Amino acid sequence: MNWPTTAKINVAIDGPAGAGKSTVARKVAEMLGYIYVDTGAMYRTVTLKAIREGADLNNSAELARIAERLDVRLVPEPGGQRVLMDGEDVTEPIRSQAVTGAVSRVAAVPAIRELLVRLQREIAASRGVVMDGRDIGTNVLPDAEVKVFMTASVRIRAERRWNEVKDREPSTSIESLAEAIAERDKTDSERDVSPLRQADDAVLLDTSHMSADEAAERIVGMCRRALEV
Ligand code: DC
Repeated sequence: MNWPTTAKINVAIDGPAGAGKSTVARKVAEMLGYIYVDTGAMYRTVTLKAIREGADLNNSAELARIAERLDVRLVPEPGGQRVLMDGEDVTEPIRSQAVTGAVSRVAAVPAIRELLVRLQREIAASRGVVMDGRDIGTNVLPDAEVKVFMTASVRIRAERRWNEVKDREPSTSIESLAEAIAERDKTDSERDVSPLRQADDAVLLDTSHMSADEAAERIVGMCRRALEV
């Protein structure tokens, strides 16, 4: 269903890894006829490039230089987006364990955040965007009309991640994913720049026992109310 009005709003969806943000955000975008923007994919793309170039992941200046030279593009397509790194389709490789294990360090570099946040704001400037990440409601789009902080228990998040990766990486266990998720939550919430936290005006949505469709319906309901006022 496309929205029967020309007015468009921005929707910010934040929360920890594996809370279901991307699945739900994608559905919301589809239901509203909006563009879905996965900001985590941008940090992952910079990370992939750094790994491929053999960069020292503890050297912020080197990482920032790599990000500055890099052309990251998100190309919307029905039901999601493709990610281009200097023109190369890296939609799949940015989901590898190597990238997942290193991305927190890249996302903690202030110069890289500045660069990507600028890009994210440009994409959202004409509104009609559903953007997911960690700092969208607090920092990237503080004036988003709808803000959701989506969460779920660590165990549930690990199970969801496992379902995503089990075919590609069959040796991965739910326990190891749970540990990695807890570790990543800690790094993301304790970092100095734009730590993961719920915006004061965001609605908390615990999806532990909620289907993606149900979560998406709830958010679309919030959008409907925001568009009515
Ligand atoms: O959502 P994800 O797992 O693809 O995110 C990858 C990493 O990027 C994660 O460690 C958090 C970080 N990130 C961030 O710091 N800010 C964002 N807006 C999006 C992601």
